[in-house]
Amino acid sequence: MAKLTYFSCFLFLFIISFFVQSSNAAYNVISFGAKPDGKSDATQAFLKAWASACNSATASTIYIPKGRFLLKATVFRGPCKNRITVQIDGTLMAPTDYSALGNSGYWILFIQVNRVAVYGGTLDAKELTGVTIKGSTIQTGDDCISIGPDTKNLLMSNIRCGPGHGVSIGSLGKELNEAGVQNVTLTDSVFTGSDNGVRIKSWARPSNGFVQHSFPKHCYEDVENPITIDQNYCPNNQGCPRQTSGVKISQVTYRNIRGTSGTPEAVTFDCSPSTPCRGIKLQDLKLTYMNRATTSSCKNIGGTSSGVLVPESCL
Ligand SMILES: *[C@@H]1O[C@H](CO)[C@@H](O)[C@H](O)[C@H]1NC(C)=O
Repeated sequence: MAKLTYFSCFLFLFIISFFVQSSNAAYNVISFGAKPDGKSDATQAFLKAWASACNSATASTIYIPKGRFLLKATVFRGPCKNRITVQIDGTLMAPTDYSALGNSGYWILFIQVNRVAVYGGTLDAKELTGVTIKGSTIQTGDDCISIGPDTKNLLMSNIRCGPGHGVSIGSLGKELNEAGVQNVTLTDSVFTGSDNGVRIKSWARPSNGFVQHSFPKHCYEDVENPITIDQNYCPNNQGCPRQTSGVKISQVTYRNIRGTSGTPEAVTFDCSPSTPCRGIKLQDLKLTYMNRATTSSCKNIGGTSSGVLVPESCL
């Protein structure tokens, strides 16, 4: 079951990616009457497109083209007959007036749906508060959840991730001017067989982006690289040779994370030499490798540690 509720202050670029599946049927919301003008209520058109996709005996895609689509409180309910891909090229807009959502407590809700993939798009939730991803099982060839620039007040809880690349903040800092990531919480989650657990990743390029107030806690991991900060992301050494990341990472607390690591080094902090990580906290970690204690490594980082720590803290 996947339950997604969205309440946000700004734009969210928010992507959940799954294995790419070939689809047989495509449902464009425009052909169900949605208008990409940001003013006409597109809710019924989206629900009709969903009903068609949900009843389709073959895998299907719901396509949301470029443009702005006004959506009121919307429930995409399962169970559905086959796999559904939601491809968003445009922007979904919440009503400006919060009361238009009634007392539903959500804006967009996927419920009792398995095998749904949501790609791309922008969710513009106006003046509402935060995004919640709760009780979702995510199996993918990419990040289970990828958190982009300008994400605020995101709560992820009871996530089961794997296979996949874990939960990633980033890649950030590709642009010089970039909005930051603030107040991201991941709690009560399990990672199994994923490449990474919780990861923060930034390009080795100048940027004024940032990550602050993030809290992975109460997680169980059975993964290759459980805890990583990598500020030297530069695939194929293109576009960033001999540069350093300008993204400021601060006030990130890793608390009560346990499990097994696929490598002897379970905690790797490789922060930017020009913009070191600050205020990083480690509290109560127990990560082992083949029944032995793991190690941690620190570069350009400041912070504190407390509680029982396996690996020993390098902070
Ligand atoms: C942080 O986000 C949570 C939702 O995850 C929200 O309840 C809380 O109020 C936010 N904190 C601040 C200081 O904005």
